[in-house]
Amino acid sequence: MGNSAQEKGLPYVPDCYLVPMADRPNLAPSVANIPVIDLAKMPDTHHRSTLISQLSDACRRLGFFQIVNHGISESVMEGALKCSFEYFKLPGEEKTKLMSNDVFKPVRYGTSMKDGVDSIQYWRVFLKHYAYPLHSWTPFWPHNPPDYRKKMGKYCSEVRRVALELMGAITESLGLGSDYLGNRMEEGMQVMAVNCYPPCPEPEVALGLPPHSDYSCLTILLQSLQGLEILDKEDGNWKVVPELHGALQVHVGDHLEVLSNGRYKSVVHRATLNSDKTRVSITSLHSLGMDDVMGAAMELVDNQNPLQYKESSFRDFLDFLSSTDISGGKRFIDTIRLEK
Ligand code: OGA
Ligand code: NI
Repeated sequence: MGNSAQEKGLPYVPDCYLVPMADRPNLAPSVANIPVIDLAKMPDTHHRSTLISQLSDACRRLGFFQIVNHGISESVMEGALKCSFEYFKLPGEEKTKLMSNDVFKPVRYGTSMKDGVDSIQYWRVFLKHYAYPLHSWTPFWPHNPPDYRKKMGKYCSEVRRVALELMGAITESLGLGSDYLGNRMEEGMQVMAVNCYPPCPEPEVALGLPPHSDYSCLTILLQSLQGLEILDKEDGNWKVVPELHGALQVHVGDHLEVLSNGRYKSVVHRATLNSDKTRVSITSLHSLGMDDVMGAAMELVDNQNPLQYKESSFRDFLDFLSSTDISGGKRFIDTIRLEK
């Protein structure tokens, strides 16, 4: 425990981290052309329709966009990143107390994905924890660094507010109205994945995370450095997400793909590495409650658009995760697709 190559800072990449040739990253990837959506206009009825059509285009084209003027201050974002960096710098024993491969644990530390179980290892260290209701979970979060609970907690509650507002605007963009999910998102889950990617001596042969889509409805990501890549489904190429100061990245997740009956597709993405700087990212995954079942909106199902997915819950996703080696790119969404 606490002995992975990335935690030790090995000067070479062990064989178990080598990704297949076809999946190796390009160290000079092309830059994605990503819609930037200005949320300052969200409450303004005059601009609301522009915003809704921008969201519709972005969710359809890439399943990915950046948001600016989201209302989360720079100091709150910096505070969350800083306490994350400090957490990962703690001595091994402090972190391995929370170490577990049990995906049902609400708070856990780990390396790679399921280290020691998966066939390919990834150059990542992570802390995952539930964040809603905040006061129920913070007592189980790390004690150290001492300001972790306060700083991360503040970011979690602010990013959740943004995610719920966005989700309303997105159901509106599907023609369902902003209240379509009622209070199901408010009562839903917020899971944080705090990721650390130490410098990697051979960033051209390994990855921080394999290609995957998130199971969530929406994921909001805050990163300390460039490194996230998305698969552009228009040309099939991997593209790096450019840095845009103060922006947050939003992913369409599998459960939004299901709700939209395939009009919006979850974005396939991966984390790449670099050889000189530690990169930290904070992912906030927003979904319905643990056992609340997501299915396609019946308004979006008709003869031309037959039902495409089975219903599923967050718990179904965890069952999939615990029983499947996803290190080679297996996706949850593929297990709930209905036969054509
Ligand atoms: C994730 C994820 C990307 C990144 O945590 O699901 O895709 O850049 N992270 O860390
Ligand atoms: Ni992801």
